[in-house]
Amino acid sequence: MPSCCLTFPSFLPCLFLLILPTFAAPTPTLLFQGFNWDSCNKQGGWYNSLINSVADLASAGVTHVWLPPPSQSVAPQGYLPGRLYDLNVSAYGSENELKALIKAFNDKGIKCIADIVINHRCAEKQDSRGIWCIFEGGTADDRLDWGPSYICRDDTAYSNGKGNLDTGLDFPGAPDIDHLNLRVQRELSDWMNWLKSEIGFDGWRFDFVRGYSPSITKVYMQNTFPQFAVGEYWDSLSYGQDGKPDYNQDNHRNALAQWVQTGGGGVTAFDFTTKGILQAAVEGELWRMKDSNGNPPGLIGISPGNAVTFIDNHDTFSQKMWPFPSDKVMQGYAYILTHPGIPTIFYDHFFDWGLKDAISKITAIRIRNAISATSSVQIMASDDDLYVAKVDDKIYVKIGSRYDVGDLVPPNYKVATSGNDYCIWDNN
Ligand SMILES: *[C@@H]1O[C@H](CO)[C@@H](O)[C@H](O)[C@H]1NC(C)=O
Repeated sequence: MPSCCLTFPSFLPCLFLLILPTFAAPTPTLLFQGFNWDSCNKQGGWYNSLINSVADLASAGVTHVWLPPPSQSVAPQGYLPGRLYDLNVSAYGSENELKALIKAFNDKGIKCIADIVINHRCAEKQDSRGIWCIFEGGTADDRLDWGPSYICRDDTAYSNGKGNLDTGLDFPGAPDIDHLNLRVQRELSDWMNWLKSEIGFDGWRFDFVRGYSPSITKVYMQNTFPQFAVGEYWDSLSYGQDGKPDYNQDNHRNALAQWVQTGGGGVTAFDFTTKGILQAAVEGELWRMKDSNGNPPGLIGISPGNAVTFIDNHDTFSQKMWPFPSDKVMQGYAYILTHPGIPTIFYDHFFDWGLKDAISKITAIRIRNAISATSSVQIMASDDDLYVAKVDDKIYVKIGSRYDVGDLVPPNYKVATSGNDYCIWDNN
């Protein structure tokens, strides 16, 4: 706080200065997933390739880019990391190439988010019994050089763990790390702070957070002060006997909200609830898009400031685990880019599918109307073939195959953009 606030005569103007910034609409946070599952195979390196897209992403209003896990890894995608400090042997490129990419983003005002894979970790060497349990950090000293006492003792695949019981789900493919160990907490926090200070990252995307307790996430949040952080808490929706999601997914989104709260409240979560309901709803079941209280049915309906919405990612699309209907992707973007929550744009949709212009038109509408993570939504219609919502009294959005919205949209609102089965109005 400025020191002028301490002296009475200057108290009033100072108060005014403190209040003033809230009148200026901040740029809405807009996340871009800057890779897919195949990016590690890019000729010439992914970092060197993505650097050519910085200008396009800046013009689209992107504020944060999620980059793939940067450390040495047994699998090229980065999700089986070992020597965490070694960023030179990544399939995506070298430490210097990564730094150059982050600097290029930062020069355009875009922050970079590191993919933090810490639930599990791959060992560098085997012990005398042939079990992979000797870890090396990738530094000259002993930082992150761990042994069996750092592996959870109930790990199913690595029988010689001597640490505490796992506080979350088991990851079968690699030893689960004992995050109750204080040296683990300290050395992983130090490594994350090094990613900030030396490499240039500003925040985190926490991989597989169901693998350890949210109180552990809180520890890493408190030790590293990320400007932005989001966790991947991914579990299944509830499904009926017809194989379709149940209408009520409150348990699913409540679990996300609970994870955020136990994680300290400053972290956000990917809104898997919205993704799952939305991708069912766009198949002629848009009645799904209103919960029993008349609000959006996903995490954005109960905790929008902590919800990171998305259509697809490197798992759900690239690995075909849970893809959004490909012919309805723009309806998905029309929804998430006009609604509260922090929207994410997936690399493939923006660049490979030719949707850059269509998506950028909607992000421009979001920015000029200052739609934010906590904007308010009034749902005007949610029938099989028509969903209409008013957001912040500033924009109207329609998705669905029904063309005629009747008198739901007032005549002083003009079409700002439209496409196949979606339309957005504003009155600017
Ligand atoms: C990676 O390369 C950079 C730049 O050459 C160097 O400073 C750093 O020490 C290297 N890291 C490792 C773990 O070899």
